[in-house]
Amino acid sequence: MEDVKQKLYYKYYLLKIETSDMMRSHPILIWNCSSITLSLKSGIQIHLFMQEGSSLTLQAFGHRGAAGHAPENTLASFQMAMDLGVDWIELDVQRVEDALIVFHDSRLDRTTNGTGLVANHSLASIRALDVGNGECVPLLEEVFDLMNHHCGINIELKGANTAKLTVEMSQRYIQEEGWRPDQILISSFDLDQLAEVRKYSVDLQIALLYQWPRNRFIEQALELKATAIHIPERFSREHTIANIHANHMKVHVYTVDAINRILKLKHMGVDGIFSNFPERIIKARDIV
Ligand code: G3P
Ligand code: MG
Repeated sequence: MEDVKQKLYYKYYLLKIETSDMMRSHPILIWNCSSITLSLKSGIQIHLFMQEGSSLTLQAFGHRGAAGHAPENTLASFQMAMDLGVDWIELDVQRVEDALIVFHDSRLDRTTNGTGLVANHSLASIRALDVGNGECVPLLEEVFDLMNHHCGINIELKGANTAKLTVEMSQRYIQEEGWRPDQILISSFDLDQLAEVRKYSVDLQIALLYQWPRNRFIEQALELKATAIHIPERFSREHTIANIHANHMKVHVYTVDAINRILKLKHMGVDGIFSNFPERIIKARDIV
């Protein structure tokens, strides 16, 4: 990620159009550094908001590594994602005993040769499972070591008691292993876990994840001092994207595999996309 030039540019978003009798006879252009208000003779008022900080480089997040190419959330998948040139790998962590394992489901059945709830197994028995192609369930520190700060890591907290261990491990890799704080992004659907992250660290980057839009999600993200909001593709609307940008946060959209939909999101101005085939995001950067 070090050699990726983050170019900044400006976007204008149409926020609202209003009519006002008072303005009908006085066309006015009001300009300041972040917004333009244009009042037309007809009485129509147009507000444009200028957003700085969007990245010209559409960020490629390898979902569970490169899950379209290798067993998800495995070292092979993360290596593949890095080889494909992602900016970020995304992974899911759960706590088992005193460790953070990289694993998505609450059950073992779909992705391993084991059965039952993760919570009902010991760390040793989970580590002995086959996740496909001879891969095992990795520990978070094994992924940090493999990546060796060659790209960013988006750690999604799944479940209880993951925040404190994740913060401690992230801080250790920043202090001792050459990671930069801006290469680590901690996200979760669980607001309590995110609040705990913020309690233990004022510096680490946070992203709020949501599945369904709800009231106050922007306020909640601002309260957490989040740098980004991760939204599902089906709720990626222009006004949602503009609203998040207007509050100086990035918009990352999950999980999109079709190139035409990746391109559509790019044209809508999102900052990053999660994909099981992250090379398609990289390809989309060069398609007009
Ligand atoms: O972090 C984006 C995405 O991974 C969230 O959903 O279920 O794939 O973890 P999920
Ligand atoms: Mg995830």
